[in-house]
Amino acid sequence: MSNIFLDTLQGKNTNRPPIWFMRQAGRVLPSYLALKEKHTFWQMMQDPELAAKVTLLPIEDLGVDAAILFSDILVIPYAMGMGLDFTDQGPVFENPLLHTDDPLGKLNPQPEKLEYIYKAIDAILQTPGNTTPLVGFCGAPLTVMLFMLQGLGTRSNFTDAERFFFREKVLTRKMAEKVTELTIEYALEQVRRGVSAFQLFDTHAGNVPFSYYQEVFMPSVQKIADAVRQTGTPFIFFPKGIGTGIASMNHDVCDFLSIDWQTDLYTARKVVDKNVGLQGNLDPRVLFAETEVIRRELHRYIPFYEQEDKWIFNLGHGLVPGIPVENVKFVVDFVKQVHWK
Ligand code: CP3
Repeated sequence: MSNIFLDTLQGKNTNRPPIWFMRQAGRVLPSYLALKEKHTFWQMMQDPELAAKVTLLPIEDLGVDAAILFSDILVIPYAMGMGLDFTDQGPVFENPLLHTDDPLGKLNPQPEKLEYIYKAIDAILQTPGNTTPLVGFCGAPLTVMLFMLQGLGTRSNFTDAERFFFREKVLTRKMAEKVTELTIEYALEQVRRGVSAFQLFDTHAGNVPFSYYQEVFMPSVQKIADAVRQTGTPFIFFPKGIGTGIASMNHDVCDFLSIDWQTDLYTARKVVDKNVGLQGNLDPRVLFAETEVIRRELHRYIPFYEQEDKWIFNLGHGLVPGIPVENVKFVVDFVKQVHWK
């Protein structure tokens, strides 16, 4: 069956951009928040039926064109032997790697600890009546390692982990390689189970200078990209905060580049390889504003689509807790109904 999201990824012409949102399941939907009253995040993620249900909530409640697997980027550290809990303050690791004397030796890949996620993918794809394409994902090594080293990343910051990157560059590179190995195995199994596209989240790509990123982390990103793309699965890369580094993200790296809200989309189109499609980049906080403000922001994208149809509408980062769900629905309806060209 033809689908506007898949058609756009394949470079086919459509009459409007497809739309989905990063973090569309787990942050703003009342139906999700109601489930959160009864189950913890870990419980929902580890129960394939529940994870499937949550993955599909945004399809029913918002009408988006793609679903993203209900999981987290930190499942990789968990599957490398790190004790992990999701608390009200965000994810917490039992033994952050910074406080161990052999951080590389502590990485102990246990691929069987990812099995519940594959079962969730099976459950999603077997849901009767569901034809929405599923986006698989994982975190990129830099972002995942910042959490692994620092421990708690939302309340504190990653200062100590970043210091480690500079003090221990060779070790950082070795650790990135080890994380990459399991990440590739994980990504390929998601593809085997049937995800239609794959997104690599590098939420903290902007926390190091681009030269460092290129030297230490880009080889890992490239390997993950190559592995996924060799299967023919479209690959979307989200290196948030990478600034002018987007100019280096050519078609050897990704099929689509997800642009953050810091970057102007028109400028991005000028500097990014023409063969790479773009995704993005409405600032999620615009959705706290009144409808007229949101409408005005959305209208700014119309001339963009007139000149560029390799584009997927999305945010410049994930939905933020507290955004009124009506505003999210307003955006979906706008994108589906406005006359684009
Ligand atoms: O729509 C969805 O929520 C899809 C599934 C998804 C989650 N995390 C679920 C989640 C996805 C795609 C992610 C990605 C993720 N996780 C990223 C990259 C994207 C981004 O937003 O920057 C990062 C950095 C993480 C790490 C992480 N996981 C943090 C910092 C937190 C705490 C704060 C929060 O809500 O994001 C989590 C927990 C988490 N991941 C929750 C959910 C639904 C909240 C758990 C809860 O409510 O207890």
